[in-house]
This record gives sequence, C-alpha cells and structure tokens, in this order.
Amino acid sequence: MEQATKWVIGNWKMHGTLAANYELIANIRALIPTLDDRVGMAVCPPFPYLVQVAGLLEGSGIALGAQNLSANVRGAYTGDVAGAMLRECSAQLVLIGHSECRAYQHEDDELIARKVRAALDVGLVPVICVGETRAERESQQTQTILARQLDAVFQLLDTAADSCIIAYEPRWAIGTGVSATPETIAEVHGFLRSCLIAKDAKFAASTPILYGGSLAAGNAREIAAIDNVDGGLIGSAALRAEEFATVYRAFLGV
Ligand code: 13P
Repeated sequence: MEQATKWVIGNWKMHGTLAANYELIANIRALIPTLDDRVGMAVCPPFPYLVQVAGLLEGSGIALGAQNLSANVRGAYTGDVAGAMLRECSAQLVLIGHSECRAYQHEDDELIARKVRAALDVGLVPVICVGETRAERESQQTQTILARQLDAVFQLLDTAADSCIIAYEPRWAIGTGVSATPETIAEVHGFLRSCLIAKDAKFAASTPILYGGSLAAGNAREIAAIDNVDGGLIGSAALRAEEFATVYRAFLGV
C-alpha cells in the first residue's frame, strides 16, 4: 500500500449494521468525493463487515483496515482471524495493541509484537497503538511505558523494509470526551519521534504518528497543528460522516 504522510483512520469498534455502514460510507464519500494524496483516510469496521465495506469503498481511495488479527498464520485458534484472511477481504491496514485489546483481552507487549510481525508478513500496514493509563501518567511513568511498548515491537521489526503507523492513544482520553491537552500531545509525540529516531532515522521520518482519544470536529484543527502529529485515530466521531469529514479536512489544513 502506498504510504501517505498523514492518516485519518476511523476505528468503528463494535459498532455498525449492514444498513448503517452503507449510509455512513455513502455520506463520507459524498462529503469527501476525492482524497488528497497527502492525507490518507481509512475505516476499520468489525470483521463481519469487511467484505461489505470493501465493496462500498471501491473507487474511493479510502483504505480498509481491520481492528485486530491473530499472531498465528492458521490453525486451531477458535475465534481468531489470520492476516491472510484480512488481506483476502481487501484490508490494507490493521490496528494492533489497541488499549481496549490490551485491557479486555489481556494482550501483552510480546503478543502485540508478534501480531505486528504477522501483519507485516502478509503485507498489512500495522497501526501500532501505544498509550498509558491514568495511574501510569499520574505516577510519572508515561515515557517508561511508551518506550517499553515500542521496544517490544522494535525487536521484531526490520526498519529498513517495514512500513508502520504509530498511534498514541492515552487510555484516559479514550471515549471520555476529554482529549489530552495540546501540551501533553506535543510532549508525548516528540518523545515517540525521538524513540523512532534512536531506532532508525529514516524509519522515523517515514512513520506517521497519529493521535487518538476524544479527537473530534471541535478539537481537530488545534490537534492537527501540533508538531509530530501526523493524523488521527478516531473512535466515536468516526461514526458520524460530517464529523469524520471535518477531522479529515483539519489534517488537510483546509
Ligand atoms: P474515541 O475517539 O471515541 O475517544 O476513541 C478513540 C479510540 O480509541 C480510537 O481507536
């Protein structure tokens, strides 16, 4: 997949119906008839809707993403979905390590790193989600946690060949309606960029770092203007076409 320099990605989480998906994509396409090369757009519906949404996106330039995948290639893993299956359903990206998967499905750093490798091995671009909890932030552990989450992934990455997207999603800002402040976002994104540079400067320059957590129409312009913020990973606002389109335009700077 051609890597845009910025991305606006909708994570639909466990929302949607056949009818609602149809309407949402039709409305997004009506609001943004043509994408700008500088800012990619993607939507990540639940697994059962991937094929439907792939059809709805045809000719739009909007990329399709999945919300997770198995670290394994195939086999007796009831309930899991393999990367090759996602590719066959036209997915180009996959969210990995989302804080809801870390929290509710107890995914740890080692498993997440293996999932990133599995995604890359079948040609999916992993959107690697990192973030701290409120307790971790309050005990000044944010940088330690983020460095640990990134380091685990770096172990299995070939930065000369692999193409990734990073998403900073502070757990305490997800679904709360209260995003991180611009100062916090600037500080954390600067830190994440420095971690990427320490690993591989060329990789750091070509890896978008997205912000996620109560990013919506009302704060998108302010967040889009922050250094080292290369797009957004949007939850609830991605379920409303008008709001999602407004966030996209904010990252385009229009
Ligand atoms: P909200 O935008 O609903 O806070 O969700 C963010 C998120 O978790 C995107 O992955």
